[in-house]
Formats: sequence, C-alpha cells, structure tokens
Amino acid sequence: MALIPQSFIADLLNRVDIVDVVGQYVKLKKAGANFQGLCPFHSEKSPSFSVSPTKQFYHCFGCGAHGSAISFLMEYSGLGYVDTIEELARSAGLDVPREERTANDVARQQQTMALSEVMSAAADWYRQQLKVAPRAVEYLKGRGLTGEIAKRYALGYSPDGWQGLEAVFGTYANDEVAKTLLEGGLLIQSEQTETQQTGRRYDRFRDRVMFPIRNPKGQTIGFGGRILDQGEPKYLNSPETPLFSKGNTLYGLFEARQAIRAQEYVLVCEGYMDVVALAQLGFPNAVATLGTACTANHVRMLLRQTDRIVFSFDGDAAGQRAAQRALEACLPLMSDDKEIRFLFLPTEHDPDSYVRAYGAPAFEKVIKEAMSISGFFFKIVSQDHELATPEGRAQTHHAAKPLLLSMPPIALRTQILRELAIRTNSTAAELESFCGLSVVPAPAQSGSYSNTSQRAPSFNQGNLGNRAQGAPWQASKGSAKRVATQNMAPPQAPTDLAEQMLRVLIQFPHLGKALDANKRALALQASQLRSAKAMELMQDLLVQCDRVELIPGEQGMPATVGSGAFALFQDQLARSELAPLYEVLRKRVMGSDLDLEGAVADLEGAFKKLELTHLKTEMTEIAQKIAASNATEQDRARYRELGERLKYT
Ligand code: UTP
Ligand code: MN
Repeated sequence: MALIPQSFIADLLNRVDIVDVVGQYVKLKKAGANFQGLCPFHSEKSPSFSVSPTKQFYHCFGCGAHGSAISFLMEYSGLGYVDTIEELARSAGLDVPREERTANDVARQQQTMALSEVMSAAADWYRQQLKVAPRAVEYLKGRGLTGEIAKRYALGYSPDGWQGLEAVFGTYANDEVAKTLLEGGLLIQSEQTETQQTGRRYDRFRDRVMFPIRNPKGQTIGFGGRILDQGEPKYLNSPETPLFSKGNTLYGLFEARQAIRAQEYVLVCEGYMDVVALAQLGFPNAVATLGTACTANHVRMLLRQTDRIVFSFDGDAAGQRAAQRALEACLPLMSDDKEIRFLFLPTEHDPDSYVRAYGAPAFEKVIKEAMSISGFFFKIVSQDHELATPEGRAQTHHAAKPLLLSMPPIALRTQILRELAIRTNSTAAELESFCGLSVVPAPAQSGSYSNTSQRAPSFNQGNLGNRAQGAPWQASKGSAKRVATQNMAPPQAPTDLAEQMLRVLIQFPHLGKALDANKRALALQASQLRSAKAMELMQDLLVQCDRVELIPGEQGMPATVGSGAFALFQDQLARSELAPLYEVLRKRVMGSDLDLEGAVADLEGAFKKLELTHLKTEMTEIAQKIAASNATEQDRARYRELGERLKYT
C-alpha cells in the first residue's frame, strides 16, 4: 500500500465543494455568506451546523464537530481516511495517485502493524491460558463474574513464569521478535551487565488476570493485569506505546458502545473491575479511565457516543480531585443539549462494591440523583470559602472565573453566572465584568458565525489567574473596523500579542510559514509570557504552518494557500493533541472577517510591539548600569545604537 501524496489531497479538496458534499446528506439553507442546517452529528431542533464555502469548512456550534469535506465524510459514513479519499476522488472523477513512501514511513507502518498483530496474538494466548488456570477462574468467580462476561471482555490470564509468550512468538533471544514485544510493552529487558550483553528479557505480566484494552475498532492495544492475591502493584498496565496512550483511551468503550446507545448515557468509573462487574450486574454502559485523570479527549470521545455522561467517583479526597479534573475537562465541551452529572459514592465504596452491597436498583437511583454539572460547579468554586464574608465571596468569584471563561457562550453559562451572582450577593453584570465576559450588544453581522465572535475561553486558564481579555485586534489599524463592536467594553488589560498572533496564524498559515527564525523566537517568547500552554500552542502551530503547501501567487504576487490546503491544515489541527485549544481559537476567529491585508497588518503590528518592548527592556537595563556607574564603553555604544533603532521602529 503506497501513501497518497499530500498535494493530491489538497488538490482534491480544491476541486470538490464542501457545500455539495455535505448537501448530499444534510439539507442546507443559505444564511449570509454560509450555509446552515441541522447538525448530523448530534440531535437538534434548530440549526447550529454551518458550512463555509469560502473556507471549505464546516462547524457545528452545538457539538463542536468541524472539519473539511474529508472529515465530514469520514465522520458521517464511518469510512477510514484512505477509503474516504478514494470515494471523494471517484465522485470528482480523479484517480488517486500513490507515492512510494520513504523507507522510514514503511518501517513505521510495518512496525505498527506488527505491534497490532502481536497484541492480538498475546490476547488470544492469555485468553486460552485462563481456561487452564483454575486459580484465576476461581478468582474471577469469587468476584462474581460469569464466563459469559469474561468472554465478552476477553479476560485472560498470564501464567506465572518468565518466558510465557515464547510459546506464541518463539525465543526472546531472537532480536526481531523481542523488538516488537518490547515496544508493545509485553516484555521487559533488564539492564545490560558485563556478563550479559543484551540484558535479560522477561514477561511484564506474570500470574495476573489480564484485561485487554481495546480501541474503538476492537483491536487490542494494551493490557491491564490484576494480581490474584494481595500485593503490589495491584494493577500493572501496559506502558504508553505507539498504539496505546492512556489519555486517549477509555477501558470498555468498545464493549459498551451498543449499550451506551441503548441506555442513552454512559457511566464513567475509575477501574477495570468496576466496568466488568457493572456489566455483569446490569450496567453494560460503563467505561473507565485507566487510573488517570479524565482528559478533554476522553470527554470528546464520550460525547461522540452520547449526550449524557454520568461520572462516578469515590467519596474520598482523591475522588474529589479526580472529579474536579473531569469538571475542567467537560466545561469547554459543554453545550445546552448535553447532560453531565457527577456521582459521589460513600467513601469506602466504588461502583462495583456499591452495587454488590446495595443492589442494582439502589445504584440506579443514585445515578438518577447524581449532582448536575452546575451543582458541582457551585460546590467546587465555593468550597473552603465563607460566603458570609466579602472575602469569601470574592474568593468564590476568583475561583469561578477560569471555569466560566472556559465555557462556550451557552445558555448554561448565563444560568450559572446568574445563580452564582445571587449566591454571592452580586449582580450578574458585576460578575460578568469581573470575568471579562461583559456582553457587548453585537450589531447584526452577516453569516451564521456572528454570535460566536464574542470572547470564549482563554488559553491561560487553569490554576493561574486569568488576565482580563482585551479586544485583541484593537492595537492595529489593519482591523479597526472590527473593533468597533468591542470598544464599548470597559477598559481592558493590554492587548495580548500572543493571542493576536495565534489568531492570525490559524487563519493564514502561510504567514506563519514565512516567518524567519528571529520572528519565531519573538512569537514564542511572547506566548511563553502568557502561559506554558500558549507557548506549546504557538510552537505546534508554527510546525503546522510549515507543513502547508502553497500555491504560487498570480503575476508575481506572493504564494498563498488554496482552500484545499487550508482545509487540510484545519484537519491536521483537529487531529493534533492540542485540538481542544485549537477549537477554542477557531471559535474565536470564526466570526471575524479578517482579510489578508488586515492579517498582515495585525501580525506586523504585533512584532513591532514585541521588538519595541525588547528594545526598551534592554535600554532600561543599560540605563540602570549607567546610573550605577558600572557601564562599560560597549554598554554605552549599545545604548546609543538601541536609541537610534528606537527612532525607526
Ligand atoms: P482501584 O484501586 O480503585 O482498584 O484502582 P479497583 O478498580 O477497585 O480494583 P479492585 O476492585 O480492587 O480489583 C482503580 C484503577 O486505578 C488503576 C487501575 O486502572 C484501576 O482499575 N490502578 C490502580 C493501577 O493502574 N495500578 C494500581 O496499582 C492500582
Ligand atoms: Mn474495586
């Protein structure tokens, strides 16, 4: 199988019109510059799904789905990437060319396939071993599991020994065999010693009940192994591998998918055993995070399956912390047609033990009564604060601010804000203004993206304080007309240059590609000042900009990005690990009608300011030396030089 060249994909996207592609499946109506319809990816009654013919991009303001014609077809039809491209090419009357891949690509692909095969062969073997391991079978029975459930979850047993998998793969002395097994995390290689050149290779999983972890396609990508008796560690997990990453995986999702759809909600717990036991006891719609915090990616995966999530946490302090992390992951992805709840079990219980102690109906009842996301929001922001005092109320506002800012502008945000204002003896307007969320009456704008141009979550949230959100375009003249709507807001903190640049680059990647090393360094520095996340984002975005293929400009004009290449760029961002941040950024720019000229002006303006700040900082440093009479002649010369430059910058 040869690789499809990126240039072909860009060309393909240039030829097909996303409005036609989407229009085959969704009834679209023209609305300003864009088209609107009912989102096919979540159920809704009023259209929040928008397709932009100029950007060749769709976006759903309800569920956040977005992408190019390719990603639309993939999501809609469930086809893989390559199949989708072939399908699309066929409809456009094109043949898909294949490009010989570099030896490196081929090696990587083969390695992934080899890994995948090895994991599945190992899972088969562990499953067979369970049949001849009465101790392990007894253990599972002792935990109330039947053979049927063991089969559904493909439970297995790894025998007590050091070279068990040799029975499947041959001797570990064979480097080829060992390489893949090591990479898949099934083997461990001890340190080299003088007598042993390669180090000893032995099974990671020994004498454990094996829980295969499967991806949504059902392929085994990792394992969790539980010890049969007491001992440490209780669970041993596969390490992160090219196939398996904990932050992107939910245990049991493959097995639970149908039940989630049927029950119309998913139950998220903490442990392997919870999932399996719950399936046994009448709750087959449970999944588990793998001993890690719930990530935005987890939430996104879940919301793709259902509109209702119930998180279950142990009642202890660790459970509370985990719940707070889940809340933080959920808020940015929340919309008004979703329901997310938090269930706190008594301290000594997890879902498995709770159902066994009190029965399924009791568990059903506590699920129904689980705390709403707004209820948990209030609990988190007001905990440890005395609402009877001004300080306590102020601290509550302070705690609420990053959470509120992380939410999209949905009705729930307004409701939470109002309720919180009442509870803290303030007005909604005061709280909004404190958070920098003051709603400025927006003049009618064309296009359906207009209502989202208001301020959305910021990149410097988290535990650190939030800088008030300025009107990021305000600084430069290139975009003066768009600023008019935001000028009515109360005075704001200085313009955030990092964000200004990010916003430009996400819309005009070729401007990023064109930046020289000096400017890149400046951009990264500015982002770092803002937050580590912003810095990470800038770094990633610059790399993504570099990948964009340009088309030569007409008649000596500079090169630009075709709409196909642009859509491809957006797809890459959507698949990046930083996708949630990109989504926030994209939401903010969707409503802007920034043209290339304005973008160039914005970017230049930002760099000017940065350079100026640098100049001034350096001059101040030298001036201090001069004042303290310990400046060298070189310092003085430099000072004069900087002074000259200041005149011209
Ligand atoms: P728990 O300690 O709550 O275990 O860990 P559990 O799921 O209730 O298991 P049983 O009922 O004692 O068999 C919850 C999850 O944390 C991870 C596992 O994913 C586990 O399912 N964990 C826990 C580990 O990865 N390693 C450990 O040593 C312990
Ligand atoms: Mn348990």
